[in-house]
Amino acid sequence: MNRIGVTGGLGFIGTSLVPKLQEAFGANIRILDNLSNISGGLAPGDGVEVIEGDVRDADAVGGFVRQCDAIVHLAAHTRVIDSIEDPALNFETNVMGTFNLLEAMRRESVPSFVNASTGGAILGEVPPPINEEIAAKPAAPYGASKLSAEGYCWAYAQSYGLAAASLRFSNIYGPNSRRKSSVVAAFIKAIREQGAVTVFGDGTQTRDYLFVEDLTDGIVQAIKAEVSGVYQLGFGVPTSINDLIDKIRSATDASFDVNFEPARAGEILHTHCDISKARADIGYDPCTTLNDGIRHTWDWFEKVGPV
Ligand SMILES: NC(=O)c1ccc[n+]([C@@H]2O[C@H](COP(=O)([O-])OP(=O)(O)OC[C@H]3O[C@@H](n4cnc5c(N)ncnc54)[C@H](O)[C@@H]3O)[C@@H](O)[C@H]2O)c1
Repeated sequence: MNRIGVTGGLGFIGTSLVPKLQEAFGANIRILDNLSNISGGLAPGDGVEVIEGDVRDADAVGGFVRQCDAIVHLAAHTRVIDSIEDPALNFETNVMGTFNLLEAMRRESVPSFVNASTGGAILGEVPPPINEEIAAKPAAPYGASKLSAEGYCWAYAQSYGLAAASLRFSNIYGPNSRRKSSVVAAFIKAIREQGAVTVFGDGTQTRDYLFVEDLTDGIVQAIKAEVSGVYQLGFGVPTSINDLIDKIRSATDASFDVNFEPARAGEILHTHCDISKARADIGYDPCTTLNDGIRHTWDWFEKVGPV
């Protein structure tokens, strides 16, 4: 490939993905990012071109996709809580933004699209493990917008023949997550700043934590496989908040307090993924244990200094 476009490429996941795309495909990278939530870990240069622009702007998107061989779409309005507060902004960014990209790709004959999606927020509270066949019942506008984007990806694959994969990421953690409020990053920041973490509920709720380098390997595999449709990308293992806290203690030797607060209304209690479809179709093979991943993440926060 000559050029790969990455929307939202300056964010948490993009910062890990971009060097991996360069290595795997020897391609130049073109990033479209509105700079609203950048990680600070990636700069233009060395085969990386950055266009400051918004996926809601059809003209900017048209110029961005031109002469690209594939697009990875990471830019999004990413927080469930923000989507409840401002569903219109969530719709414009996640649904119209994705539609703008697909339309521009159709016009410019760009053949390959990888769309960042999500499992938990699309499916709601269902007995785990979650898989691609479960009927979607998004409980918040964020999940509804991601489900709608998946629908357009599938429709464009069927109608216009491009490869369009929607990858449903689980809970991603790792370096470059300083601006994230997801649980691993939030706990590490709270330990470093306050010497204590806060757990909502009794800590038995489970999630599927996936190290960002395993995720970005999976994205590379999906581009190579030229697949369309929906794929769950997680580690495939449930971990409770209480276990996560034990692992943070053992992986880092940090000492900290744990405060328990009442559970938050609407929070999903248990979720983890069945990753067998991604294993079979794209050769997805996550291998970083939670212990190792937490240590890498902790070391990164130590290296970048006070938060
Ligand atoms: N991090 C996770 O655990 C997780 C889980 C499930 C799904 N996802 C999805 O993965 C994708 C990337 O997530 P992330 O954690 O790297 O998020 P992030 O917020 O760190 O990065 C998103 C990037 O997109 C940019 N951006 C935001 N709105 C934009 C717009 N309108 N136009 C152009 N650029 C815009 C931001 O500046 C940022 O650089 C998102 O689509 C998210 O919904 C992430």
